[in-house]
This record gives sequence, C-alpha cells and structure tokens, in this order.
Amino acid sequence: MKPNGLPDLTRASVEALEGLVRYHNKLYWDDDAPELSDPDFDRLVRALRERAPGSPVLDELGASRFGEPVTHEVAMLSLDKCYGDDELADWLLDFEGRVVVSPKFDGVAASIRYDAAGQLARAATRGDGVTGDDITRNVREISDVPRRLLVAPPGPVEVRGEIFLRLSVFARHKDRFSNPRNLAAGAIKQKDPKKSAEIGLSFAAYEIFGLDAPTEHDKIDWLARAGFAPIERRVVEKGEVLEVYRELARRRPSLDYEIDGVVMKADRVDEQRRLGSTSHHPRFALAYKFQGDTGTSRLRAVEWSVSRTGAVTPIALVDPVALSGVMVSRASLHHPGYVAKLGLSLGAEVELTRRGGVIPNVERVTSPGDAPVEVPAACPSCGSELTPQGDFLLCSRTSTCRAALIGRVAHFVAAAEIDGFGERMLGELFDRGLVRAPQDLFSLTAAQLLTVPRVGDKLATKLVAEVARARTIRLDDFLRCLGVDDLARHVAKVLTRELAGLDAVLAVTPERLAGIHGIGEIIARSVTEGLRRERPMIDALRAVMTIEEPAPVAPPEGPLRGLSFVFTGKMVRRRREEAQALVQRLGGATPDGVSKTTSYLVIGDDRSDGKQSSKEKAARKLVAGGAGPKIIDEGEFEAIVAGA
Ligand code: IVH
Repeated sequence: MKPNGLPDLTRASVEALEGLVRYHNKLYWDDDAPELSDPDFDRLVRALRERAPGSPVLDELGASRFGEPVTHEVAMLSLDKCYGDDELADWLLDFEGRVVVSPKFDGVAASIRYDAAGQLARAATRGDGVTGDDITRNVREISDVPRRLLVAPPGPVEVRGEIFLRLSVFARHKDRFSNPRNLAAGAIKQKDPKKSAEIGLSFAAYEIFGLDAPTEHDKIDWLARAGFAPIERRVVEKGEVLEVYRELARRRPSLDYEIDGVVMKADRVDEQRRLGSTSHHPRFALAYKFQGDTGTSRLRAVEWSVSRTGAVTPIALVDPVALSGVMVSRASLHHPGYVAKLGLSLGAEVELTRRGGVIPNVERVTSPGDAPVEVPAACPSCGSELTPQGDFLLCSRTSTCRAALIGRVAHFVAAAEIDGFGERMLGELFDRGLVRAPQDLFSLTAAQLLTVPRVGDKLATKLVAEVARARTIRLDDFLRCLGVDDLARHVAKVLTRELAGLDAVLAVTPERLAGIHGIGEIIARSVTEGLRRERPMIDALRAVMTIEEPAPVAPPEGPLRGLSFVFTGKMVRRRREEAQALVQRLGGATPDGVSKTTSYLVIGDDRSDGKQSSKEKAARKLVAGGAGPKIIDEGEFEAIVAGA
C-alpha cells in the first residue's frame, strides 16, 4: 500500500481494480462515508478505465440500486476505435459519400425515449448495453433535453447521446470531485432529482431511432430543431476528414467540455444500412482517439508570449523528454485557465503527450511542485493592462501591442509561405517602422532591408523577390492568411468553392454560411465577424496583391466528362494544381481522395522517396478487391489529356 491508502495501481489486476472501484463508489455515493480523497478516487477510476475501458463497473458509478432496469430495444453498442491515419484511410474506403465528423464527448451514454406525441417517456443509462437503469427523473432536469419535442416525431422515437458536465460548470464542484466524467456518472444516478439538477448536467444528442432521414446530418439537424442542444457536426469529403480531426485536436483545450477523440460516421443512411454492425460496434462509425506517446518530465518555468490576437499565452518549459521519437522541451499551456485546471506549479512532475500525434501537450500533474506559477499583471510585450475573458487573458491594446502586431505579420508570412521573415527579422522591421502590418511587406525595398543588421545585398534581393512572388495569391490561400478564427484551410476552400469571389465572401451573412454543408452556425458567425473586423486590412491587402478567383464553375462539359482523376506523389511534368485544372477544363473531376468510383489514380514520376502514399495504398487495396481506379503514371496521363 502507498501512504494514501491505494495500492500500486499499475500492478493491480483488472479484477482488483474493479473491486476497489465498487467498494469506494459505494462508500462515497451510498454511505456518504468516503475513505479516499476525491483525487484518489478519481485516480482509481482512471486506472480502471485505462486498463479496461469496457468494464461494466465504470457504468455503475453513482448510487447503487438506482432505478428500475430498462431493456434497450436496440442494443447500445460501442464505437470502433482507431489511433492512426492509416486505419482511418482504410475505413474511409468502406463506403461511399461524405463523412459526418463530431467531437467524442467524454461522459456517460444515455437513451431517451419519446412517445408518438413527442413527450419524454423514459430515460436509461447504457448499463451493459442490453439493460440499463431508469434515470428518467434526473434526465428531465437536464436543460439540453426537451421534455416535449418541438417538432412532432413520425412516431415513438429514441434519442441517444452523452450526458456530460461542462468544464465551466464543473469548476463550481472542483473541490468535491476532480474529474467531470465521474461527477456526471454519479450525478445522473443521484436518488434525489433536485440534487442531480443542482449539479448542472449537459446532454449532447448524437443519434436517433425511428426517424426516417436520408443522411446522418439530417438526423442531427432534426434533433436540434426538436429542441436538443445542437452538437457540433461537420459534413466533409473524405479527403478533408483528417484536417477536421486535427482542427478539433487543436481546439480541444479551448472547448468547454472534455473530448477524448473525434467520431466519424458515413453520412448516407443507405450506406450505413449496407455496412451494418458487429455485435460490438457499427461498421459505419469510427472513433479516432487522441493519443500520443506519453512521457513524464518536470516543469522548470512558464514563459508568457503574446499571440496575434493579444492572448497572453503560457508556455511550459520542461526538462527534455522523448515523445514518439521527438525530444520535447516546450509545450503550449493554451491559456491561464488551463494552468489553473491542471493545478500546475513550478517544479511539478507532469505527464506530456503529443495530441493528435503531433502537438506536445501537458496532460496532468503527477506530483505537485513547490512554487506557484505567476500570472503576469500586465502585457509582457507592451505593458498594457490585461483583460480577463473566460479562461483567457488578453492584452487590452492589440492595435498598438508590438508582439500582437508582429504576430499578425508572422501568421501572414507563414500562411502565404513567404520565406526569410522569422520572428527576429519581423522584430527588426517592426522597430524600424518598416513593417507594422502584412500589407507593409509589399512596399519593402532592398535599400530598407539593408538597414537591418546582418542583411547584405544578396539577402535583401532574395527577400524582396520572396514578397514579389507572394503578391499573386489564390483566393482560398488569401482567406487563410488573414488569421481569422475558424477560417483555416477547410473553411477557406469551402468559401471559395461556394461563393463567387472575394466580394461575395465579404458580403456573406452568417445565415447563408451556416447553410453550406460542412459549416455550422458557430463557425459561420465567427468567420463573418472576423472578416468584418479585418476589413481594413483586407482592403489594404487587396490594393497591393493580385487575388486569383476561380472561374465560376460551369457544368462539366468536355471530353473527360464522367471521369475522375486523383493525383498523388511528386509530379515532374506539371504541378499537381496545373494538372487538376487541366482535367477540370476538359470536363473531368478531381476529387481529393480515392474511392470505388475514381477512374484514375495518377502517380507522380518522382518516386525518389520510394514510399507508397496512402492514396496509392488505398487504390491498390481497391484494385485487389476487383474495383477501384486504374493506376497510371504521368506519361499515361499526358497521353490521355493529349487525346482529349
Ligand atoms: S455515435 C454505437 N457520437 O462514445 C454508438 N458516440 O466509446 C454510436 N460518444 O457509446 C455512438 N460522443 O456514448 C457517438 N459524437 C458522438 C459521441 C459518442 C461520445 C460515446 C458514446 C459511445 C461511446 C463509445
């Protein structure tokens, strides 16, 4: 036994862990006589979850003998999981059509039945998937759950979703419980509905039975219309799934709820039916879990930097530790709220992972340090007053703050792929009054650049040429460069594809945007607001740049009509974009990813890296199964277009 009353959890068997969880759960919830501190109880539950995520004991958290048993009409299955891009790519090959992507909420699953009149009839926990516990009285108290549907259902329906606790709500209970999922699990089984209501649970509806709809996203939209809190969902092409996954992984620290992955589903219900389910999970859905290598290190210092938005951002400086083969010594701590959430102190031993397999992140404190993390009292760059905003701390003078202004230019040069303008160079140019905003780059002269230390003729000429090269830019790239929240690659592409040029983008209303597939209301609002805010910069940039707007899409007409070409690998004869444009001009389609209906996969002739791309693997798998594209090289492609 360790001094805190818990055995070494890494050595305990699953059965032993289950026994301990059962025992301490009863003491806490039934007997009101806990022997363990809340963090220790949580540690115990977490240990069991890590070792046996499917353990039924995890669903028993909360008061025992709660409610009557309820048998599910359709078994409540689990989700199939994947941890890598290749597994995801394989799964995407199994069906046709688009993909619905939503966050994987870390809470407890529940089923809610409504009668044909739309009245909430019965709610139950998942239990063992076949039989759960009646939690109707507590679910009626959750404000995200309508007691009566706002839209008449076609008959009795069953809504499934996740009961969870918002982090902002959890903050009120932090002293009593240290993990929102366990508190949600306990609260939903509270015997007294008033006490359960006091906790402030939330509900995310992700599934409905009894509603006939052609697509998954139609069902989710129906749920929102019927009165459920809308859950974030993006409807994307297969080629965009990975990017949306990464975007969610990046946004994870700023969400008001805990997510442990991303759920993807085939959007077309006919495809869902065709794929069916195993006894464990449906084949049309997949959970891509966040996980990277985990390592432990010590926090030495916290550095505060100011981002382009003026957010004063803490960065953890830790003793170097290897994570998935890369040495990591810095990790963003996102915002002061995250520092508080972790309970971080200097000298603490911390667990780090690479989220989404890439971005180093401090997950938790494994052993506390000895000195508090000091939060700056004024902007570390310009000394202005700081304004707290939720978890964030913002410089109150971003229009003049050196770090924020340089950050905006730095974002622009990175997104526009203008080389040679690192933070140091931008600092020098800023301090000389030469570049205070992105548009200033375009009037920089070699003579001005020569005033910067260590810049000679050669470098000055190169920098001027770099800027000149970037002066002409595609509309989607231009939009991405603006640094507007939520206007990353995917949304920029959608805007460019759906709207007729920059003027149309600038004039678009949030309502029109939210009507476009793949863009939700929240993103629509933040994008339109951001564009309005950045209007002065956009106008200044337009005056000095050439923005290439795609020609309005004509109905596909031409010799390649009905054929689709996917490109992969480094091309030698033409740039990929050029080849795609050519195919489109000839009436063909150029989807991003390979599917059963793809006509050709064109592999670039430069095969110097000797590797097979994921598209090539996907195509070969299809071909082996007797379907899929014809795989050709650049020569064959040239012959086809020459013939056309
Ligand atoms: S779809 C067959 N969507 O994750 C179940 N599930 O680990 C289909 N979950 O039991 C569920 N967020 O409780 C779906 N956006 C989401 C979800 C989600 C969380 C839970 C669900 C499921 C568990 C599987």
